[in-house]
Amino acid sequence: MKHALIFAVSSFATGATAGHELDDRDLINGQTLYAQECASCHGANLEGQPDWRTPDANGVLPAPPHDASGHTWHHDNQLLFEYTRLGGEEALAARGVIGFASGMPGFGNVLTDDEIWDILAYIQSTWPDRVQVMQADRNLPHD
Ligand code: HEC
Repeated sequence: MKHALIFAVSSFATGATAGHELDDRDLINGQTLYAQECASCHGANLEGQPDWRTPDANGVLPAPPHDASGHTWHHDNQLLFEYTRLGGEEALAARGVIGFASGMPGFGNVLTDDEIWDILAYIQSTWPDRVQVMQADRNLPHD
């Protein structure tokens, strides 16, 4: 159920930016920072935690994979950025979903905005072209 909620929220995303935030990013830096800050939960190979679709006893979901088998690519860049900077609970609250118990911490005090975009660009760079094209379509308007 909670996953359905995330999908519903993200499909209302404004996509206010044109989707160029990920262009010309430092992928090596992104990969290094991913290993330091994200791999402990999302997996060294972006595979996520086991049974990531099943919430625990407190209703909190495990960390999903960031590879193409997950749903990261279902989201526009801005949502991914906010989710990383603010953490899941605050990012969803900003989009009107209040009180969602998220296991995703905010990294706004740990990483600069540029570092977050580098990490997201690295994650995106691991997806097959087909998936990259589909995710790019989430970032409207095009120009
Ligand atoms: C303490 C464990 C933990 C760490 C560390 C962590 N995450 Fe997460 N992350 C989660 C969980 C759990 C979710 C599941 C979403 C939810 O329930 O809100 C999640 C969800 C996400 C999402 C939204 C879901 C998706 O796949 O689209 C993004 C984006 C994300 N994380 C990015 C990152 C990035 C980037 C880092 C490193 C800077 C990171 N996470 C580090 C636990 C973690």
